[in-house]
Amino acid sequence: MAEKVIQFGIIGLGYIGTGVAKNFLNHQNLIRSRSGVGIVLKKVADVNLCNREKVPLGNECFVEDAKQIIDDPEIPIVVELIGGTGVAKDFIIKALLNGKKVVTANKALIAEYGKEIMAAMEKSKSGELFFEGSVGGGIPVIKVLREGFIGNEIKDITAIINGTSNYILSDMEKNGVPFERALKSAQKKGFAEADPTFDVEGTDSAHKIAILGALAFGTWIDYKKIYVEGIAGITNQDILYARRLGYKIKLLAIARKGGEGLEVRVNPALLDLHHPLSAVDGAYNAVHIKGFPVGSSMLYGMGAGEDPTSSAIISDIVDAAQSISFSSGRKQVYSLSDHDIVLADKMSWQSRYYLRIQADDKPGVLAKVAGILGENNISLSTVLQLDESTGRTVPVIMLTHMAVEKDVVNACSSMEKIDCIKGKVMIIRVLTENDK
Ligand code: HSE
Repeated sequence: MAEKVIQFGIIGLGYIGTGVAKNFLNHQNLIRSRSGVGIVLKKVADVNLCNREKVPLGNECFVEDAKQIIDDPEIPIVVELIGGTGVAKDFIIKALLNGKKVVTANKALIAEYGKEIMAAMEKSKSGELFFEGSVGGGIPVIKVLREGFIGNEIKDITAIINGTSNYILSDMEKNGVPFERALKSAQKKGFAEADPTFDVEGTDSAHKIAILGALAFGTWIDYKKIYVEGIAGITNQDILYARRLGYKIKLLAIARKGGEGLEVRVNPALLDLHHPLSAVDGAYNAVHIKGFPVGSSMLYGMGAGEDPTSSAIISDIVDAAQSISFSSGRKQVYSLSDHDIVLADKMSWQSRYYLRIQADDKPGVLAKVAGILGENNISLSTVLQLDESTGRTVPVIMLTHMAVEKDVVNACSSMEKIDCIKGKVMIIRVLTENDK
């Protein structure tokens, strides 16, 4: 019997689109023999086809109008790689309503409009959505949550899911490079978003944790309600002080069940060197998952870049083709509740904290600071005052025991009001080995 061939089209021939096309064509035979399905790249669409030379396809395969893919009855799989939340959304919804399988790596779109997109998918009989490439580059974390851990109650996801920020923090730590230079280097290597503020201000991580949290906890999470703090305020000094105390600073994305409800946030944190996430450096990503019955588990891999991301997208293309080939209708079920969950109030969070103050170097200052902390139920575990005085004032670093966010915010605002403390208190949350 002749093998059934399933065709797909790529919309968007940018960095990732070019990578997917090249890597797919290079591995086409391997994919056929492993999947049992003949898959063919029929068309590639982009208004700007400047990268066409990099893709070994005939001229007839390149088109400028995405409609030539979305409306082509011979193309059941549409791969959207133009990014952004504008036309990409219209293309995806139209393709789903046309009954197509849609593959995308567009995390901003899924995080912001996932509910609307899935509603379009539900409306169509065979429309199906795949988005493995949206989180963690080459790490198959969505498959793990949806399939590998399907029998688990997930309790906690703590992840490093922005390669650019992780690269910057690692470069600052290892090479003493200032923030701006490390960012330029990450951009040059192709890790950063078109607008790198999405990376360093934590928006990209928020998009991704909204997606992982939704899959793990079965409910949409309004990503705009996620507390987000980026890494732009982290100094080389904070990294050095943290290291002296036995910690590394990482940008973490967290979704976990706490006493007060689901806690979802993105913030830099001091990570105990014994925590497995502390070993994740450079553009690598890792997702640490605690579930029952599985226990603790960590997925690790390259989180950004053309090749790793294309690995995830190609896996989705094969899943889509197998769904067409081996089943009738739709295989993917996401079962997300229609209601956005109410997230736990930030002021109720509990953590250990790193506090850095710039204080006058004279008697009685620490007593005042300790007094304020005590009045706010905060107990110190470590105090570090370094020799490197900048004149009249010195940095003093304190690590607290577990404390409630509200108490820490109040204490810091009181400290900032006393004369012997200059400027703002630097507050960074601390994740310890016990949080594994
Ligand atoms: N800009 C993203 C990152 C790319 O740095 O992780 C992958 O989503």
